[in-house]
Amino acid sequence: MNRPLVLAIETSCDETAVALLRSPREILASEIASQIEIHRQYGGVVPEVASRNHLPRIRPIIESALKRSGCSLAEIDCIAATRGPGLLTSLLVGYSAGKGLAIGLRKPFIGVNHLEGHLLSPFLQGADRPCPSVGLIVSGGHTMLVRVFGIGSYRLLGRTFDDAAGEAFDKVGKLLGLPYPGGPEIDRLAKEGDRRKFDLPRSMLNSGDYNFSFSGLKTAVRYLLPKLEGDFHADLCASFQEAVIDVLVRKTIRAANQTGVNLVTVSGGVSANSRLRSTMRQATAAAGLDLKMASPALSTDNAAMIAYVALERYLLGYRSDIREDADPNLKLL
Ligand code: KG4
Ligand code: ZN
Repeated sequence: MNRPLVLAIETSCDETAVALLRSPREILASEIASQIEIHRQYGGVVPEVASRNHLPRIRPIIESALKRSGCSLAEIDCIAATRGPGLLTSLLVGYSAGKGLAIGLRKPFIGVNHLEGHLLSPFLQGADRPCPSVGLIVSGGHTMLVRVFGIGSYRLLGRTFDDAAGEAFDKVGKLLGLPYPGGPEIDRLAKEGDRRKFDLPRSMLNSGDYNFSFSGLKTAVRYLLPKLEGDFHADLCASFQEAVIDVLVRKTIRAANQTGVNLVTVSGGVSANSRLRSTMRQATAAAGLDLKMASPALSTDNAAMIAYVALERYLLGYRSDIREDADPNLKLL
């Protein structure tokens, strides 16, 4: 049986990542070179610095992924790279490397939407192909609820009007003086805290739609901070995290119930959050819904999810026009 092999490159933000995936979903390599230590000193990702640091990493990481996979370039059936959305100067490094490889090897090229990568990542480790479901994408740049009908067939149910969920975690982390990115730090500290200690706003919980807003919550934390004394960090992290998760979980369950699907997926960096995972598990079970999430390692940015979208699209006969440019504002829908 012919089992197509995809090599995918992801450089939309500050991780340089390369993966090799063999059909149906065998991850032969998934390498990630993180720049977090570099950007931590600035308290966030500096685009120019990110792009400059992708450059020296891209070729070695392609080589190490190939080596780990035990495959040669000649065996690859399709080259894929993230086309957007993301930081343009970062995208250009991986996207150009991917195009160059495809042209040099005379192989098909597929430009992948980073958000579709996240959206379909929960299907990368299971046995089912993408099927009718409601998908919650929660990352550093996006928060959206999507009705999934099948590969490439999506409808937007709702999105955030201001901050993304991950952005709210990172901004509150910064207010508390935690290292960048705040998300994993808050997750860790919240385990020791009291979730009911501070009563923080659940914006748009009953707005009657599937949209979100997190900037008011961040502002509430900012105004609360000067009034607090002693060691309040763990309690504040736990209370803030609970406010975010409460809205995410309840709106997702409502969307699944109202659209009549019985599968919920959760993806994107924030879906690595331990409390979101356990709360979503409980809530879906109580509502009689199935739940799929990528493992925490495949929830944050990686190239395996890009390879997976490319593989599914390759099997459907889809090919990108090599003349297409990277697009920092590429839309999923
Ligand atoms: O998907 P991702 O790696 O990159 C984007 O496409 O944005 O998401 C990064 C975001 C960051 O805001 C980070 O703080 C958040 O995901 N994050 C978490 C956790 N791990 C990563 N947020 C909460 N809890 C976590 N454990
Ligand atoms: Zn991402």
